[in-house]
Amino acid sequence: MLKRSLAILSIVVGSIAVAARVPEGTWDSHIHIIDPDNFPLDSDRDYTPKPATVDNCTEFQEGRGIKHAVVVLPSVYGTNNSVLLDALRYFDGQYRGIAVVDVETITDDELDELHDAGVRGLRINLESSNDTEKIISNVNAYVAIAKPRDWVVQLWVPLSAMVDLHPIIQSAGVTFVADHFAHAQVGSKTNNSVNTFDPYKSAGFPEVVDLVQRKLLFVKISAPYRNSKQDPLYEDMRVVAQTLIAAGPDMVVYGSDWPHVASEEGNGPGGPLVPSNYRDINDAALVEITKEWAGSEAQIQRLFVDNPRRLWQWYSED
Ligand SMILES: *[C@@H]1O[C@H](CO)[C@@H](O)[C@H](O)[C@H]1NC(C)=O
Ligand SMILES: *[C@@H]1O[C@H](CO)[C@@H](O)[C@H](O)[C@H]1NC(C)=O
Ligand SMILES: *[C@@H]1O[C@H](CO)[C@@H](O)[C@H](O)[C@H]1NC(C)=O
Ligand SMILES: *[C@@H]1O[C@H](CO)[C@@H](O)[C@H](O)[C@H]1NC(C)=O
Repeated sequence: MLKRSLAILSIVVGSIAVAARVPEGTWDSHIHIIDPDNFPLDSDRDYTPKPATVDNCTEFQEGRGIKHAVVVLPSVYGTNNSVLLDALRYFDGQYRGIAVVDVETITDDELDELHDAGVRGLRINLESSNDTEKIISNVNAYVAIAKPRDWVVQLWVPLSAMVDLHPIIQSAGVTFVADHFAHAQVGSKTNNSVNTFDPYKSAGFPEVVDLVQRKLLFVKISAPYRNSKQDPLYEDMRVVAQTLIAAGPDMVVYGSDWPHVASEEGNGPGGPLVPSNYRDINDAALVEITKEWAGSEAQIQRLFVDNPRRLWQWYSED
């Protein structure tokens, strides 16, 4: 344990460009592709990320020896999945995708096209919405589309929304996956140290743990910087990570969140339409920290390889 901590520190402090040491067959369950030159961003966007193209992605993942990733359509593309379809075709069946669709206008043919390219789910991104009614109606509409196709519904919603979603998820008949620790924010982010010492006191956390134990909800162990300000080690996320992993050893998956969009937080004085930089994140260190949270070689294998294969319906051996 001490040896591993020292290894993590040397990566972080030395900023050594080491390749992440991940098991063979690893899946990165959360990345974005952003290609404004070929696929214009939505004019109504909240921020403007710089390009992170399929070429950038290839360089990033090949450098780490990772062959499989899940491309999630980011909010800056609204409900236009062209960039996602293009990326999935480029990666030639090795990747999966999570789409965002307009439930009023999407057709069966379009959904079939998404499925054939590798899409296996739909994402609700209402990260900071206090409108639980809206979240519930979006969930119900997405469940209706996901169910006949055996897709998952992916949630990026406030943790507290899980109180009301708890019964809905139990009766939905589809698998759910929550982004980034189910948005369980800790003290360095909320300024309430109770969130760090006892995550069960955060509204929605007991419901998340219950759904994970019932094997209805996967959780991504990804992007701790969205819930904690304790960079670079995010030590205060440890209790959340370890609680979720212990609750559902088979229900957790690793994600890098590359290229680490800064979202609205990154907007400068020029406003949301001026390109902003990505967050400066040490991916290799985060992989090492994630492995330490997993705690055993067997759990590392589940988190990086076996669980994502089940979640993303990947049934071959590589
Ligand atoms: C989606 O974006 C592509 C280009 O990226 C464009 O050709 C197409 O018209 C857009 N679709 C809709 C419905 O706006
Ligand atoms: C993508 O590649 C270009 C060209 O090498 C580089 O300038 C840019 O920083 C890369 N972007 C990312 C997100 O890696
Ligand atoms: C959400 O917050 C906004 C602004 O703080 C407020 O105007 C609105 O009434 C709230 N909505 C709900 C459903 O609580
Ligand atoms: C926590 O405190 C910092 C520093 O005072 C402040 O900038 C931040 O907005 C606060 N965060 C919340 C969620 O209240």
